[in-house]
Amino acid sequence: MAAQGRLNGKVAIVTGSGRGLGLAYAERLAAEGAAVVVNDIDAGTAEAAVKSITAAGGSAVAEVGAVGSTQTAEALVGRAVASFGRLDILVTNAGFLRDTVLWKMTDEDFDSVVNVHLRGTVARGEALPPFARRELGFGAPGDVAGLVAFLASGEAAGVTGQAVGIGGDRLTLWSHPAEAVVRFADGDGWSPDAIAAQWQQAFAPFLQPVGQHFPEAP
Ligand SMILES: NC(=O)c1ccc[n+]([C@@H]2O[C@H](COP(=O)([O-])OP(=O)(O)OC[C@H]3O[C@@H](n4cnc5c(N)ncnc54)[C@H](O)[C@@H]3O)[C@@H](O)[C@H]2O)c1
Repeated sequence: MAAQGRLNGKVAIVTGSGRGLGLAYAERLAAEGAAVVVNDIDAGTAEAAVKSITAAGGSAVAEVGAVGSTQTAEALVGRAVASFGRLDILVTNAGFLRDTVLWKMTDEDFDSVVNVHLRGTVARGEALPPFARRELGFGAPGDVAGLVAFLASGEAAGVTGQAVGIGGDRLTLWSHPAEAVVRFADGDGWSPDAIAAQWQQAFAPFLQPVGQHFPEAP
């Protein structure tokens, strides 16, 4: 049975979609009706992703290659057009993390993250606790895929340049940096003394917090 949904007739490329978040995005876009070009550097995972999508009733082909070069970009677009006749959606997901800032993490933070990430779902097959999904925004790749499918749809046609956060049950829209206070020097630029003379009265009242506040775990 062909997939039906808000992306019927659309064609998507999802880079790095052999596994992880990219796979979840590709599966969700296909479930919403889009034909998907699966891309990955790993041919085995790319082919497995195509099988998974087509077995579920979707349309997909694999284009193996490392994104980053013009050659791969042209091959991806060429594959979309050759296989499905057009290209509407590009999800530039491919990448990898280098989370090496352990020296900034307390023992409690480390234990909390490891407990939730490693023991919360994968150790025993149990769902993440509601606190982790709701307050911390922890979840699985499938939790993110709904946002990607929404942003690729006509319902989000006017949404661009936004910082949207999603994880678990938490969906957030982040503010953009914008000028809060402006003062001008008299032609010679700003010396430290001149800044200090202005700071407390003009700037300090407008200092803002940054990031997200996590409540204590129950
Ligand atoms: N997992 C997270 O919590 C998280 C958070 C923020 C951002 N991200 C970003 O989301 C993306 C996916 O994360 P993930 O956790 O699913 O990663 P993952 O390592 O599970 O999957 C990444 C996939 O991309 C492929 N890949 C890597 N380099 C490639 C390249 N040059 N060309 C084509 N394919 C390539 C890999 O083979 C792999 O299949 C990454 O860009 C990552 O930085 C992830």
